[in-house]
Amino acid sequence: MKNPDQQNTPSSDDDVVAERVRIFDTTLRDGEQAPGFSMDRRAKLRMAQQLEALGVDILEAGFPQASPDDFAAVAEIAGALKHTTVCALARCQDGDIDSAARALKAARHSRIHLFLSTSPLHREHKLGMSKAQVLDTAVRAIERARGFCDEVEFSAEDALRTEPEFLAEVFSAAVAAGASTLNAPDTVGYTTPTEIVELFRYLRQHVRGADKVIFSSHCHDDLGMAVANSLAAVSAGARQVECTINGIGERAGNAALEEVVMALKVRAPHFGVDTRIDTRQLYPSSRLLTELTGQAVPRNKAIVGANAFAHESGIHQHGMLKHRGTYEIMRPQDVGIAATSLVMGKHSGRAALRQRLQALGHAPDDAALDDIFIRFKTLADHGRELHDEDLEALALGHDPHAVGPWHLVQLHTSSHLGGSASASVRLAHDDGHEIGEAAIGDGPVDAVLRAIERATGTPLELTRFQIDAMGEGGDAQGHAQLSARHAARDWRGHGTSTDIVEATALAALVIVNRIERTTPTAAVAHIKGAIA
Ligand code: KIV
Ligand code: ZN
Repeated sequence: MKNPDQQNTPSSDDDVVAERVRIFDTTLRDGEQAPGFSMDRRAKLRMAQQLEALGVDILEAGFPQASPDDFAAVAEIAGALKHTTVCALARCQDGDIDSAARALKAARHSRIHLFLSTSPLHREHKLGMSKAQVLDTAVRAIERARGFCDEVEFSAEDALRTEPEFLAEVFSAAVAAGASTLNAPDTVGYTTPTEIVELFRYLRQHVRGADKVIFSSHCHDDLGMAVANSLAAVSAGARQVECTINGIGERAGNAALEEVVMALKVRAPHFGVDTRIDTRQLYPSSRLLTELTGQAVPRNKAIVGANAFAHESGIHQHGMLKHRGTYEIMRPQDVGIAATSLVMGKHSGRAALRQRLQALGHAPDDAALDDIFIRFKTLADHGRELHDEDLEALALGHDPHAVGPWHLVQLHTSSHLGGSASASVRLAHDDGHEIGEAAIGDGPVDAVLRAIERATGTPLELTRFQIDAMGEGGDAQGHAQLSARHAARDWRGHGTSTDIVEATALAALVIVNRIERTTPTAAVAHIKGAIA
């Protein structure tokens, strides 16, 4: 059923406006200005290209007047993007507007985003302006910006704490001056879903020219309601949502783009609107941002967290194996995640264990499965989450806790910016010998893997390499997960250290040790050769 709020939806540049919500991404502006998330120009350009692949309608690339670097980043992005509207932020001041215009010169589609506080608190304490002055400043700025770009957006900063009558007056003047998007930001994350619905309904009724413009929401997450408030605004007629990847942004962040988009998609019959986002690019976008900023998302983060499509409880796993709809409301593939993962821990059941072992290439009969299951439960009951290599070890009758025969004694790496790297390792073997080897590689990780191959005589064809950060600051640990092919089989290992190269070396040694415990003779021959 059509939402009654959609009857009057504003129309603008194409016919399907009524049913489409524009996604305005501000990861590189509101997101990047938050502590811990700054990116250099190269990183911003890389992220902007990914956001274009994701299909965002408008990309706010920065605040050109804020710094020469911000200016250069906006200009670079403006020249690089092909379809996405590139937007630059500006205060309602001539200098800001002119900088934004210059930075956007090369953009195929450009927008200047003007903002000015409208709430009584901001008028008095931040701007020292009367209502009339605010009104006049906004109008003059919009008229100036209008001549420099394809579209002007006007934001009434702290709109949700502004008198609705005054907000409608400012917005009416903004429409008359040439703004085509009116943004009502919940700058301090104060509003609630019912309040924002009321405000958007009020504005759409009282702003003169409301049918010619797009209303936009921009919600912060101070009370944890940014996504709920954005969706409520959509249900009341907002046809642009401003949001960021992973919900990064000032203080507690902005509405998370991936959550807004997937809510609109999964609950499409409820909201009755669509976006142009290629949702399969959501996870890659989230991962890229994590890599560029070094800030991981929590495991339980909706849509893109490690646990978003992971099931450990036996009851849930059993349900999932029968029909995935029992415990999943969307497919991981729809957000760009390869597959659901049934995490093997103390809550897991036999059916999930059998399925996981089969996926790893083992097909135990019922008796063997019983035996593996008992040993698996004993380990899992000690609180461990079991990784694939632990399950493989159990299937092969090995002790997953076994360490050695190789141990890392020393590791040294050096690398040159843009050049090759070298690594030397010293390994001790349980039979009492030590071996040192060195190698060069494309980077320190590659070099250390080559040195370990040489020292142990075990060639590894790397098929997967992932590093995740655990914790923060100086105590942060790198968790390396490696998969490699050796002797026509896949082997996995993981290692943890505050040094990511060491974490990688430890993960590689887990693999080499597993190979050697399975086929020890080749390694013994190698050691004898090395000693001779
Ligand atoms: O939160 C806010 O009010 C803003 C404006 C600049 C739109 O980020
Ligand atoms: Zn903001």
